[in-house]
Amino acid sequence: MASRKLLLLPGDGIGPEAMAEVRKIIAYFNADLGLDFELDEGLVGGSAYDAHGKAISEEDMGKALAADAVLFGAVGGPKWDSVAYDVRPEAGLLRLRKDMALFANLRPAICYPALAASSSLKPEVVEGLDILIVRELTGGVYFGEPKEIIDLGNSQKRGIDTQIYDTFEIERIAGVAFELARARGNKVTSMEKRNVMKSGVLWNEVVTATHKARYSDVQLDHMLADAGGMQLVRWPKQFDVIVTDNLFGDMLSDVAAMLTGSLGMLPSASLGAPDAKTGARKALYEPVHGSAPDISGKGIANPIAMIASLAMCLRYSFNLIAEADRLEAAISGVLDDGLRTADIWSQGSTKIGTTEMGDAILGKFKALS
Ligand code: NAI
Ligand code: MG
Repeated sequence: MASRKLLLLPGDGIGPEAMAEVRKIIAYFNADLGLDFELDEGLVGGSAYDAHGKAISEEDMGKALAADAVLFGAVGGPKWDSVAYDVRPEAGLLRLRKDMALFANLRPAICYPALAASSSLKPEVVEGLDILIVRELTGGVYFGEPKEIIDLGNSQKRGIDTQIYDTFEIERIAGVAFELARARGNKVTSMEKRNVMKSGVLWNEVVTATHKARYSDVQLDHMLADAGGMQLVRWPKQFDVIVTDNLFGDMLSDVAAMLTGSLGMLPSASLGAPDAKTGARKALYEPVHGSAPDISGKGIANPIAMIASLAMCLRYSFNLIAEADRLEAAISGVLDDGLRTADIWSQGSTKIGTTEMGDAILGKFKALS
């Protein structure tokens, strides 16, 4: 079997600390499971800026484009707060998303049973929650032109952003959502605001047509995005896959994520279009959190978001479904055992550091074989 090419971009702050735990798990995959991951590594963010004066070098950008998948840690920190805008650490991530054409952002909201009691919602509302938000990432109001502030005189100004979606953009993000739904609960809820937005009318039409043409085996519902926000908080378990645009997805995915606990628990995936010949998609997997300068270097960061991002990578880039399921079960099992990093610690559980958490998850993974 051809080797699986994986590029690690640990980045800054707690990024490298969390990535070290992922590296241990991949080493086990290679040594004991014969999974044959070919690892390469690069610099991104502030660490790349320090080395090359750019947030990602051309060489590392080339490696990202050649890899089957990229695992990204986090970038940024106070050390680089004053560097020029176009070489700031975040520019590295934006460049990766743009050049890899990652138009689909996947944010799962999973509530591990052991953490249901610490949700801001009632435990029965979130326990066992497992939903996936699919957000369009490269179009919509964040990118549409015109985008400007116009001086109208009389001390009045006008701020303009433009929401634009073309048929092909809606079709391809809907396709991703339907395909993912087939491998899960077989249900998609599309959210827009067709009552007040023309782009919402088109979104609704194109999702409906895509469903009819290619995915009629999947259940499709439509919901206005504001009502969707309410329903997410009222009874989130009614959803399986939610597909929505860039702006609504930004907000709804943050709401959904917070139903389930700490930033330190949340993985994400960003996918590109399938290759015409092989069908393989470019993909980048990263925790939702940033570089957490307030805790970096202390050995207390929660590596679960990063490890859960590896699980998504196994599932979506390498079709290693059993291994992904087992890694997620290992995370859940370690939490059931009462082990917690400081960010998710509660009375009666055992507080451990980053390395111990990584070791415990790998130990549990082995025990589940
Ligand atoms: P942050 O996500 O780094 O931290 C927010 C809070 O959550 C902090 O108190 C932090 O200690 C805590 N936290 C985050 N991840 C954690 C983990 N794995 N375990 C335990 N606690 C965790 O967001 P913040 O503070 O707004 O930004 C810090 C830096 O990270 C900034 O330079 C920002 O630009 C950058 N950033 C980078 C992102 C990325 O690389 N994708 C995303 C968000 C922020
Ligand atoms: Mg956001």
